[in-house]
Amino acid sequence: MMGRLAIYPGSFDPITNGHVDIIERGLMVFDRIIVAVLENPKKDPLFTTKERMRMIQDIFAGQKEVEVRSFDGLLVDFARAQRTNIVVRGLRAISDFEYEFQMALMNRNLDPGIETFFMMPNVKYSFLSSNMVREVASLGGPVEGLVPEVVARKLRARVKIRKRAKT
Ligand code: PNS
Repeated sequence: MMGRLAIYPGSFDPITNGHVDIIERGLMVFDRIIVAVLENPKKDPLFTTKERMRMIQDIFAGQKEVEVRSFDGLLVDFARAQRTNIVVRGLRAISDFEYEFQMALMNRNLDPGIETFFMMPNVKYSFLSSNMVREVASLGGPVEGLVPEVVARKLRARVKIRKRAKT
């Protein structure tokens, strides 16, 4: 399938409604999006790479313009291997800016052909992060409305297992 392809990279531990919003917005601009799940995030992940990928695949099941792949190593190498130079990232607030700015310029330094496109999610997701979702879930708070239902179910199950393991 041809058309403009963009990579949307991240840890997605787990994917939130903010990420889903960015993917949907991205599809208004790009023909295809590869959601690139980082294999070994520095932080000890709550979900395995396969679990993180499976949740995203479930959410976009039947949408062949969204593909889910995992990657390790440099993002610019992964993008090149997928034959695209377009990276999409979400910007929630000014606090995201410095890290994203550094990352975009480092990627450009590594490969001058790479272009990073920033998209703003719906303002109702501007406070939302995977970290916060993990924390709320681990303390027994509700995550409905913050993550897709498939993720909420997995989170509840994972938190129960971790609690049981501690007792
Ligand atoms: O969801 P995150 O954790 O903010 O995503 C960060 C990610 C995966 C985009 C970033 O860590 C990344 O691109 N890692 C791959 C390694 C790399 O290319 N590093 C050089 C650019 S800073």
